[in-house]
Amino acid sequence: MTPQDQINDLTDRLNYYNHQYYQNSVSEVDDFTFDRLLQQLAELERQYPEFRRPDTPTQRVGGTISKEFPTVYHRFPMLSLGNTYSEAELTEFDNRVRKGLNGQPYEYVCELKFDGVALSMTYENGVLVQGATRGDGVRGDDITNNIRTIRTLPLRIGRGAGGQGHGTDSPNSVPPALFEVRGEGFLPLAEFERINKEREDIGEPLLANPRNAASGTFKQQDSAMVAKRRLDCYLYSFLSEPEVFQTHEESLIAMKQWGFNVSPSWRKCADIQAVMAYINEWETKRFDLPLGTDGIVIKVNRYDQQRELGYTAKSPRWAIAFKYKAMAASTTLNSVSYQVGRTGAVTPVAHLKPVLLAGTVVKRASLHNANEIQRLGVMINDTVFVEKGGEIIPKITGVDLSKRTEASQPINYPAECPACNTPLIRKEGEAHFYCPNEKGCPPQRQARFEHFIQRRAMNIESLGEGKIQLLIDRGLVQSPADLYDLTNANLLGLEKAYPEREGGPDETGKVRVVKFGQKTVDNILNAIEASKGQPFVNVLFALGIRYVGNTTAERLADYFGSMDELLNAPLDVLANVPDVGPRIAQSAFEWFRDPENREYVERLRAAGLQFASERKVVAQESDTLAGKTFLYTGTFANFTREELEERIAANGGKLLSGVSKKLNYLIIGENPGPSKVDKAQKLNVPMIGEDEFTAMLGG
Ligand code: IVH
Repeated sequence: MTPQDQINDLTDRLNYYNHQYYQNSVSEVDDFTFDRLLQQLAELERQYPEFRRPDTPTQRVGGTISKEFPTVYHRFPMLSLGNTYSEAELTEFDNRVRKGLNGQPYEYVCELKFDGVALSMTYENGVLVQGATRGDGVRGDDITNNIRTIRTLPLRIGRGAGGQGHGTDSPNSVPPALFEVRGEGFLPLAEFERINKEREDIGEPLLANPRNAASGTFKQQDSAMVAKRRLDCYLYSFLSEPEVFQTHEESLIAMKQWGFNVSPSWRKCADIQAVMAYINEWETKRFDLPLGTDGIVIKVNRYDQQRELGYTAKSPRWAIAFKYKAMAASTTLNSVSYQVGRTGAVTPVAHLKPVLLAGTVVKRASLHNANEIQRLGVMINDTVFVEKGGEIIPKITGVDLSKRTEASQPINYPAECPACNTPLIRKEGEAHFYCPNEKGCPPQRQARFEHFIQRRAMNIESLGEGKIQLLIDRGLVQSPADLYDLTNANLLGLEKAYPEREGGPDETGKVRVVKFGQKTVDNILNAIEASKGQPFVNVLFALGIRYVGNTTAERLADYFGSMDELLNAPLDVLANVPDVGPRIAQSAFEWFRDPENREYVERLRAAGLQFASERKVVAQESDTLAGKTFLYTGTFANFTREELEERIAANGGKLLSGVSKKLNYLIIGENPGPSKVDKAQKLNVPMIGEDEFTAMLGG
């Protein structure tokens, strides 16, 4: 390859990676590889400047703006940081700083390099008025509404905000009338795990890692969905014109005092040795933090010195990032086992010769799916590399082929379910193999119970921790509907010892005894009884229909109001429900058409579960609508469905459950159900809009 070809090739590749990372939230290569390629390109461009392309990634900050959000210009450009990977490179940085400052004394502030999404927030007179992404560094996306969902980010700061800042102000001063704070938006690891557990539970593909999950969430159009994921943000810079602080340290202290979430992990370091000590200290400590970190950021403390050092085309000369090499270890892959989830997805789990990694002993690693095994080309008895990245579960990142011997055996991905021997199937476009024996496969059955009893479903959590397994083993329950037939006599005295598992084959030899004493039995029976009062939306979620998570259950319950409406809902009506796409509609439609499922639903009805949304008792406002009957379809600009029903009832009207000759008015909203409209037309029932209805109420 000629140097020109090399430059073209690297430019295209890096631009592609940048696009994947910033636009699609996908990291196709690790940071280390990306930075090495970028360095190679920069070096080639230095040697052959005539071949440098105008779109070279070496001269600009990665990322562009998306079309969906309004574009905003940053008052101060959002730059990126140079990277270093070794003490030697760090010493070079320190030498450049010393030289640049002509022998003046200087100090550093070290912070962790948080692995999330760079955000910039503008405050005017103490009020958060704008939040934006970095975009291309000059312009970003205005995602104010999404940023407002971050609970730790003050929407307004106290202490009589609004003073005029001066260079001499102390950290205790009031904030200036206009300023920006910048920081890293992230999805806490625990929240990431929670979301993935939930997604696994309803059969949604898992989010790859916390960073991508955070970036994808910030780009969602519906901020109500954003709010459900508890995003967080650590602030690390303060910008105003004129400056109000003299050092970065002062700005961190003041931000903290003003109520911003500043990670306490920062430290002032007198020299580069102290910086090295900080780096060493956090190399493993960082794994105890609530978010992923991939290095540290070293910043010259004094602002006047920062100014003196200045900037290159894309990053400051007064700061640098030190990236930790991913914590890796090599060990032997002993075996692979296969776990079957609630929706039948089969996940391979690698069992490793125990190895110490970032302070913990690793025995298992995720292999994700069959594609991943193929991509890695890994075999049993191979020496594999294991890494701990942003995720909690370590992963296998490669095979040490130089150590492969004849003992290496291919991994035979099972053709049949490891639990029930049913032939596995693969759905188009999905990476996982599935066991289709939804009703008979033991782990799927067990998981269906666990789904049913969870707090957000029927809330019978006293049945957890192996008790369900025992009930199933003893043949007392086969379907969750059987729970409602259990009696004291069935349960009292049941006992069984189970090997301790932790999600893999027994390695410890320990046993766990599950025992039903009188107190336990009372708790369980009481919880089962109490579950009959759980609202309809919980019942709907508890059914365990694929893709129907909490939010979808809420939408369906809102729209249909009762199980009967849902049981008979045509596919096109289901697909019309707000936030219910064709995939969910199809899944729900098929579920409710299955005779066994219908029988299951009838048993739950007979047990006394809530099959309709509760209608609130409302205070009477007038009798304007007395003697008139109403039904509505679709969604409305000024009313939720509940409010609409309340208004009808409070003004003497009556709500009907379907279109009939008795209906006086069908109120039509956005996305009306076609069957209701059709029928109303046939029966000549007057159809009115939201405005006409409001007018009937007297405006
Ligand atoms: S300071 C001009 N401090 O790293 C310097 N950045 O490559 C501006 N980051 O886009 C950044 N933790 O998203 C700074 N403690 C920290 C950081 C941090 C993470 C990210 C940030 C920025 C990227 C720079």
